[in-house]
Amino acid sequence: MDRYIHHHLGERKAALFADLPGTVVELGAGTGANMRYYRAGTRVIAVEPNPPMHRPLRDAAARHGVDVDIRTVGAQDTGLADGSVDAVVSTLVLCTVDDPAAVVAEVRRILRPGGRFLVLEHVAAPDPSPVARLQRLLWTGWRWAFEGCDLRRHTGDLLARAGFADVALERYRAGWMFLPVDDQVAGTLRR
Ligand SMILES: C[S@@+](CC[C@H](N)C(=O)[O-])C[C@H]1O[C@@H](n2cnc3c(N)ncnc32)[C@H](O)[C@@H]1O
Repeated sequence: MDRYIHHHLGERKAALFADLPGTVVELGAGTGANMRYYRAGTRVIAVEPNPPMHRPLRDAAARHGVDVDIRTVGAQDTGLADGSVDAVVSTLVLCTVDDPAAVVAEVRRILRPGGRFLVLEHVAAPDPSPVARLQRLLWTGWRWAFEGCDLRRHTGDLLARAGFADVALERYRAGWMFLPVDDQVAGTLRR
């Protein structure tokens, strides 16, 4: 899976994560799929509430020379201080958290003015369309199979309306075999 995702999204992620500061907060870092895109020596505060992810996450960080600091908390309540963070990363996480609006509000709270929120997320397809129909058909089973992942979220709209000073989001199709999560948004929001 990791290799497949890297094959389809790697170039986009590498461009998105170029020019990151020395310390980054990553939400829902999972098994460390993004570690390969960080400069060696980067400190990543990984907000990952799911303990079974922690060992593979640590291993991935070690392979790529990333200094990972894992916090077993939810992204809606990171425990980080107001305005204390330069950059927050979220890839394929806002589909899964219980309350994406609360998570985005938390990101705004912890970012310093001018700090960046870098995202890559799948979204609900334009409706009507065959993919939107497919998403409606599959969403309950998909959510069960993929640990809460909700195919119906309009995450691009949520981000655009969240009150960031600058929003640069691109909407695109990943062009991969996972049609229900082919519609995506990626880009940078500035606090
Ligand atoms: C689909 S995986 C994505 C993992 C990784 N970001 C990637 O791009 O491959 C979703 C991740 O979000 C995590 N997660 C679920 N609820 C969360 C929450 N409330 N706060 C932070 N992470 C959460 C899961 O444990 C999982 O690691």
